[in-house]
Amino acid sequence: MTDDPIKKALGYAAAERIEDGTSIGIGSGTTIYYFIQALSERVRAGLQIRGCPTSQVTLRLAVQAKIPLLALNRLEGELDVTVDGADLIDESKRMIKGRGGALLREKIVATAAKKTLIIIDEKKKVNELGNCLLPLEVLPMADHWIMRLLEKRGFVCHIRQKNNGTPYLTDNQNHIIDLEFKDSIRQPEELERELKKIPGILETGLFFGLADTILLGKEGGVEVWS
Ligand code: A5P
Repeated sequence: MTDDPIKKALGYAAAERIEDGTSIGIGSGTTIYYFIQALSERVRAGLQIRGCPTSQVTLRLAVQAKIPLLALNRLEGELDVTVDGADLIDESKRMIKGRGGALLREKIVATAAKKTLIIIDEKKKVNELGNCLLPLEVLPMADHWIMRLLEKRGFVCHIRQKNNGTPYLTDNQNHIIDLEFKDSIRQPEELERELKKIPGILETGLFFGLADTILLGKEGGVEVWS
């Protein structure tokens, strides 16, 4: 992977904020890669934490980085904080996540935390969510049925595929349908409610109320938005 100075600065700035003795949800994606490296350095220097990964990739990176792990099902109470990236964030701190396919576990782990710290390049901050793909994690036995249902309602959608043309599989062995929005999403909360009513849609990439503090990465530094 080529070095990305903005993502690297975000990862290190997030790791600096982690307090001793805490439990940390660890998100997924290329920005979180740097957070894991930075956290690993702090662990080697004596920081005592336990990390709860949101994907198999993050699990592998955390193991390589010698970060002590915590399984969500063993958690008593809540995680202290979850650190994650995002694909888009609007003025109301509503996010779209899941380009990397980890949305379901990411939403569970974020919900299990007292607070969330989102690390994101400032280019991903928008006035309104939209002009993007919105990922949905769906049950494979119903993916084409769900897609036809969504198309009848006017949505443009695609089942995510691997390079070899077979369906992309999430860590939970499910499929992803990407909804295509050419314009802004007018009522994201209403959309979330509509999508969640369809049996077989297990989760959407719309994240509400799950961004407490945001670190915005830009040329020359990291800005805090809280
Ligand atoms: C993973 O499924 C996503 O939700 C990521 O958190 C999001 O796509 C941000 O990833 P990057 O840090 O790679 O942009």
